[in-house]
Amino acid sequence: MHLEIVKDYETLSKRAAYILASQIILKPASVLGLATGSTPVGTYRELVKIYNEGLISFSRVITINLDEYYGLDKDDEQSYHYFMREHLFNHVDIKDENINIPDGKAVDVEAECRRYENIIEAVGGIDLQLLGIGQNGHIGFNEPGEHFEALTHLVDLTENTIKANARFFSSPEEVPTQAISMGIKSIMGAKKILLLASGEKKAGAVYKMLKGKITPQVPASVLQMHPDVVVLVDEGAASLL
Ligand code: F6R
Repeated sequence: MHLEIVKDYETLSKRAAYILASQIILKPASVLGLATGSTPVGTYRELVKIYNEGLISFSRVITINLDEYYGLDKDDEQSYHYFMREHLFNHVDIKDENINIPDGKAVDVEAECRRYENIIEAVGGIDLQLLGIGQNGHIGFNEPGEHFEALTHLVDLTENTIKANARFFSSPEEVPTQAISMGIKSIMGAKKILLLASGEKKAGAVYKMLKGKITPQVPASVLQMHPDVVVLVDEGAASLL
């Protein structure tokens, strides 16, 4: 794993956006695996700036998002569909048909998970997967204890994750308790991975991911086995290294 430590969140966001933009320049029809949450908000903002400067186009880019809350409609303001439109898709020239996010309202969840894996296969796999990391070491919504072999599936969110995500909802009771998430195996299938972490709250998880034992108890530790990972963190998230 290649570790890059930068000063602060602003620098991290710019650097991450540059890495994504260079992927698009090198391969205009790139398949980008995308994440939501607070961490990539600055990255998407910087990427939109680069797009507005006319340096990149999303016209041939295909996106595959990591996850979606189960039970939320795509127009729900808390849904990851909504988040992605707000922060990226509404501001660039991506084609609707090239955007992929699990359907949180799917009635047949197993069929939805199979459909999602088939898309990843049909587009030839993910070229660059952007990841955040949970305080408990989760990636996507693969919580501690998940099998490394898991593909896209329905997951029960842990108390820890529900609490951490409650900041986006008016009360913790409103946070959905399940999500459809790409599995560890789907994530590990990406050709390249860029993991971002910012702030001291993430320092413990970053330490275990990089220096700890590879174990399903720390899902991100599996990334030690991947051939091409960049871990981009700010000084806060690197404070235990
Ligand atoms: C989001 C996702 C999650 C987040 C993680 C960190 O699509 O899959 O794994 O990346 O929970 O979230 P933030 O960035 O809000 O700290």
